[in-house]
Amino acid sequence: MSKFKRSNHPMDEEAWGALRSEMLQVFTPGAPIDELALFAGRQKLVQKVRDAVISKGRHAAIFGERGVGKTSLSSIFHFDLSKTRKVVYVYIQCGSEDDFQTIWQRAFRRIVFHIDGQEYGASDLVKGEVTPDEVEVVLANFGNALLPIIVFDEFDRVRDDKTNILMSETIKQLSNSPTSCTLIFVGVADDVTEIISQHQSISRALVQIRMPRMYPDELKEIVTSRLRGTPLTITDNALWRITYLASGLPFYSHALGQACALLAIQNKNTVITEETVSASINECFNDLDQTLIDSYVKAVTETRKGNIFKHVLAACALAEQDDLGRFSAASVEEPLSAIMQKPMRGPAFSFHLNELCGAERGAILAKSGSRSHYRFRFVQPIIQPFITMKSLSTGVIDNDLLTRFAIERQRSLFA
Ligand SMILES: Nc1ncnc2c1ncn2[C@@H]1O[C@H](COP(=O)(O)OP(=O)(O)OP(=O)(O)O)[C@@H](O)[C@H]1O
Ligand SMILES: [Mg+2]
Repeated sequence: MSKFKRSNHPMDEEAWGALRSEMLQVFTPGAPIDELALFAGRQKLVQKVRDAVISKGRHAAIFGERGVGKTSLSSIFHFDLSKTRKVVYVYIQCGSEDDFQTIWQRAFRRIVFHIDGQEYGASDLVKGEVTPDEVEVVLANFGNALLPIIVFDEFDRVRDDKTNILMSETIKQLSNSPTSCTLIFVGVADDVTEIISQHQSISRALVQIRMPRMYPDELKEIVTSRLRGTPLTITDNALWRITYLASGLPFYSHALGQACALLAIQNKNTVITEETVSASINECFNDLDQTLIDSYVKAVTETRKGNIFKHVLAACALAEQDDLGRFSAASVEEPLSAIMQKPMRGPAFSFHLNELCGAERGAILAKSGSRSHYRFRFVQPIIQPFITMKSLSTGVIDNDLLTRFAIERQRSLFA
């Protein structure tokens, strides 16, 4: 991947500059992956989407949390998919104002058919209003020598209910027809039905692909593969720290990995250590979505001098969670006691937990369960790593505390 060769000669200004440019390109906190070589792990999921495309009459829905890598997966899975059929890949990013008509009009504008030696734009073949039937008739022009794939990314953003029903009908219609075209719907959701209504008649035709968070090894690979072949190296502990802070979300591996590489280069140092990671945290906030930063600020606003919302939130981010990201008030006690350096039992902060669920503090947490068994979770899970990092950079928690409550715990889980 890299143009660099390790050598014993000291690097000159030009070489440091070239290395910096490379780090700016290979780490992509702001963009999905669009090259196979840069896509880490996820092989089973890639195979699942490929199988859906190859199987006749099948379509797919890729869903999961924000920032987990859905667009990247849907952008790379089709490379080298078939030796016998040419892949025609069409990508549409849907928006809140879209409906069935506008989505298909946009898809058709990107499709060209070659019929009897002549070229036709798909839009020119549409007769009147676009209906599921019309979609099938138009897409039939692809013929069987091609492998057409149409991806509708951010389909969850479409608000129009009718679009959802019409798309389900289109899936049904296409899966019962000889058309070889595969439709792929991508969106933020916990459950496939939040993306596309699942009446029984399409359940066999629609392959559900839930994207979980990434494994530590995959997150490590994001960093190590980008440093491989360059003069930069990273210590094991630094790699663990980045991996822990990323919490399964590749965005944070990119943002932190890049910030560390740039800082090391600025200091003309070729080794990334735990200190480099700590010193890079503030820098990586520049890549974050501003709305996340705003919701943290709202949650911890000091209405009274010395309130402890910052501390409670930091303890929530360090609390032990179940598989669904939920934690109890009891699991907040230990990290909060360590942060406050005095025993903190439930009643001392139950008010704060409730307030953090309320509108006034932006409802950053949500509560479920019954009185004796309340469970809390971050409404936007992507904010949790940010809270940990912000708490570190503002001194609410220190590295020892992070190591004790989080890094060692995770390390023992994956060792
Ligand atoms: N397998 C991967 N290997 C390396 N980097 C990845 C991988 N998957 C995703 N990324 C990186 O993670 C970040 C988020 O990826 P992506 O935009 O694909 O996620 P998403 O689920 O579509 O996000 P959103 O919910 O915001 O649409 C990007 O910086 C991207 O480069
Ligand atoms: Mg996306």
